[in-house]
Amino acid sequence: MSDLLLKAGDVSLEYLDGTRRVCAVDRVSLEVRRGEFVGLVGPSGSGKSSLLFLLAGLRAPTSGQVELLGRILPRKPDRSAHLRRRHVGFLFQEPFLVPYLDVRENALGHATDPAAAERMERLAEAVGMTAMLGERPHRLSGGERQRASLLRALAAAPDLVLADEPTANLDQPTGHAVMDALRAQTQEAGLVVVTHDPGMLEDADRILFLRDGRLEQA
Ligand SMILES: Nc1ncnc2c1ncn2[C@@H]1O[C@H](COP(=O)(O)OP(=O)(O)OP(=O)(O)O)[C@@H](O)[C@H]1O
Ligand SMILES: [Mg+2]
Repeated sequence: MSDLLLKAGDVSLEYLDGTRRVCAVDRVSLEVRRGEFVGLVGPSGSGKSSLLFLLAGLRAPTSGQVELLGRILPRKPDRSAHLRRRHVGFLFQEPFLVPYLDVRENALGHATDPAAAERMERLAEAVGMTAMLGERPHRLSGGERQRASLLRALAAAPDLVLADEPTANLDQPTGHAVMDALRAQTQEAGLVVVTHDPGMLEDADRILFLRDGRLEQA
């Protein structure tokens, strides 16, 4: 089996904002291999979240294509849902959780693998969320919601984890605990982390720098 997980070929994303076109991602090519930890940094508005959406198939590129495990992601995001569900863990910059489910139910939503519950409990322990597993999201702080989203993204042991500022609402020790959990859970998977905190990328294999939608050498 090839260890190439993800391949983006010349992907661009334009948003139509009223009559104005915003080129959020401009002809980006990159590859992520199994076991790799890639950092993605760049100024606010440089297109980091937009690029993650393209890599996950959550948005269709205006041009170019993304291959996940050798399969070209369909242009319609709902057609790639099955691939994403099976292979990708996504941590959104603004964590969102289903309000009427508790943390445990949010985390295990799509996971049918019996090992998922056990894995999730271990992760909860590692990031200080064990006591919160029975709580609904409205009872959680911002940082707790972010960690609840982490449990959801990792519960099914996805092949690829895309995390958008996973430590933004956390103090330094908790942030490091989250990064350690991400790293531990992706030893045989791929990990892409967007962050404004270089301290969270100390163990990264590569750091990509995005400016005005383009990749630059970091
Ligand atoms: N839905 C949208 N419609 C129109 N423009 C958008 C939309 N989403 C993002 N943009 C624009 O695309 C550009 C890239 O945004 P993006 O959210 O990808 O940046 P970012 O690097 O993640 O920024 P931050 O560090 O602040 O999260 C920005 O100019 C932004 O205003
Ligand atoms: Mg962003």
